[in-house]
Amino acid sequence: GSLPEYRVDPYQLVDDDLKNVHFDIQEELRRHTSHDELYTIAQYYFDGQGKCLRPMLCLLLSHALNFHIHKKDKPLPEAQRRVAMISEMVHSASLIHDDVIDCSDFRRGKPSVNVLWNHKKVAMSGDFILAVASILIARINNDDVTICLGQVLTDLVQGEFMQLGSKETENERFTHYLTKTYRKTASLIANYLKAESMLAGADEGLTELAFQYGRNVGLAFQLVDDLLDFVASSSALGKPAAADLKLGLATAPVLFACEKYPELNAMIMRRFQEPGDVEHAFELVHKSQGLEQTQFLARKHCVEAQRLAERIAESPYQKGLLVVTDLVLNRMK
Ligand code: FPP
Ligand code: MG
Ligand code: MG
Repeated sequence: GSLPEYRVDPYQLVDDDLKNVHFDIQEELRRHTSHDELYTIAQYYFDGQGKCLRPMLCLLLSHALNFHIHKKDKPLPEAQRRVAMISEMVHSASLIHDDVIDCSDFRRGKPSVNVLWNHKKVAMSGDFILAVASILIARINNDDVTICLGQVLTDLVQGEFMQLGSKETENERFTHYLTKTYRKTASLIANYLKAESMLAGADEGLTELAFQYGRNVGLAFQLVDDLLDFVASSSALGKPAAADLKLGLATAPVLFACEKYPELNAMIMRRFQEPGDVEHAFELVHKSQGLEQTQFLARKHCVEAQRLAERIAESPYQKGLLVVTDLVLNRMK
């Protein structure tokens, strides 16, 4: 018998391992430096708050594939727990750099690090988290895993780079947006789940399934993120809302809205820099179908992720992977 889906809480399923993730990260950071200020800045986001979506997905998929392969549930091997933990370190390090680049002052419901310490120290602290993460990756001692997790770092940097002052033409725009979205968000989830599957001893087909599941969840997650930027309040998000236009960014809702309101093209080209652009574009997005179309595309990726998860042997964890897609789609923050 299986649990009815509505009773499955993906976070609850992996709570034993998940509840220690932030504490374990803090301990590793502490072990690798005797500079109190560096440690203080680096550990700031590992305070037990935050969604921990990435480690949760890593743990869930690891359990689901271990069960699929070995036909029974058992405690997670250390290497799989480590990959989950490293996913949170790399993600948080990228957010530290991101908040400096975006001049953002609020993250996870509190002042962001760049508000509390100077940018030079903040940048070094992000690098320090990555440095410790690289040692932890090396300790896993698996070349395929190392390559996979290294790929994520090159993608993150390139995704962010693509977003800086890009000047693509109108018909390149959506492809550019999707590639950027894969690199800045989906690659991390896809490759960390791929690494988890390799550690589970998955064959090539199952590894590809894990990767594609992560890619689709990641794309949906970022599409919803870009949607929430237009509809949620900053207090609900725990970070600034309506921020993307001000940063000059044309995300999916704007790109869709452009079909109905071609006057958005000129504003996109000048990165919403002229007085009134941000307000005007915001209004046009809300008047268009851009938000619904973004939601629709996110849903499409969630359905694809579910289709993939249905091919994994039935277990509470596999059900968790199905339910996660609904959480991603319906999240409010
Ligand atoms: C958040 O996006 C940012 C990312 C998902 C990736 C940021 C990557 C870098 C800054 C490159 C450097 C990477 C490393 C590993 C050092 P967002 O600004 O759209 O979201 P937000 O609203 O949460 O700020
Ligand atoms: Mg940002
Ligand atoms: Mg950014």
